[in-house]
Amino acid sequence: MSVPTKTRRITVPELRARKGGEPIVSLTSYHAHTAAVVDKFADFILVGDSLGMVMHGMESTIGVSLELMIMHGKAVVRGTKRALVVVDMPFGSYEESPEQAFRNAAKIMMDTQCQAVKLEGGARMAETIRFLTERGIPVMGHVGLTPQATNAMGGFKTQGREEDSWQMHIDDAKAVAEAGAFAVVVEGVVEPLAVKITESIDAPTIGIGASNKCDGQILVLEDMLGLNPWTPKFVKVYGNLGGMIEKAVEEYATEVKSRAFPGEDQVYR
Ligand code: KIV
Repeated sequence: MSVPTKTRRITVPELRARKGGEPIVSLTSYHAHTAAVVDKFADFILVGDSLGMVMHGMESTIGVSLELMIMHGKAVVRGTKRALVVVDMPFGSYEESPEQAFRNAAKIMMDTQCQAVKLEGGARMAETIRFLTERGIPVMGHVGLTPQATNAMGGFKTQGREEDSWQMHIDDAKAVAEAGAFAVVVEGVVEPLAVKITESIDAPTIGIGASNKCDGQILVLEDMLGLNPWTPKFVKVYGNLGGMIEKAVEEYATEVKSRAFPGEDQVYR
């Protein structure tokens, strides 16, 4: 059998083996060209359902469909060759039963050719995670602040401010990891809780708004690039692309209006 020689992607077992080792780098991406840039530096790329807000102007992730996730997932897989690509399962596509989750996770993987899916929820999702992983679908967990549940949680609130809530979050992370999740996103929790969760499970933890004490970090690309009108307080903004785009568009508009827009050079050849 001939073996293809193209660049090899980071695998699920390789990522899982990074527990306690070199920190895992990851970002979201929803788009082939940005994914190609992120691919040079990230261990995994998440096609997050945050794309509903970031790309489509939705108010939350609740309205994101399976079709939308698949469309963006395909673009990101096409744009990358090195990073592991994980696609989020959107709200309503997995909670009903393990069978529903399998059907939709398999569709995501078959249509996009991504390497894994992510789903939100702790102990209540453990049976589903086990069902998927036993059938060959690698699953990334997501505990702490789970955006698909913000209606029930009363908004985007940091979790674990009260110490007596810590055990529930630790138990959630343990249940997800013991069910077979190869890594667990820990979102929006206070640092001592992130430390306890990271110490309690064998799978690497990927923090977002959860301090630098996790086994890796993820940020929404557009947040760290300064491209979103609103950026969460915990995000370090590494670039001001929003400002750069505004300046470039303003310059273009001024040139067009004053007929200073280059003429000869702007003809199709
Ligand atoms: O949808 C998303 O972008 C996510 C990250 C915030 C982890 O789930």
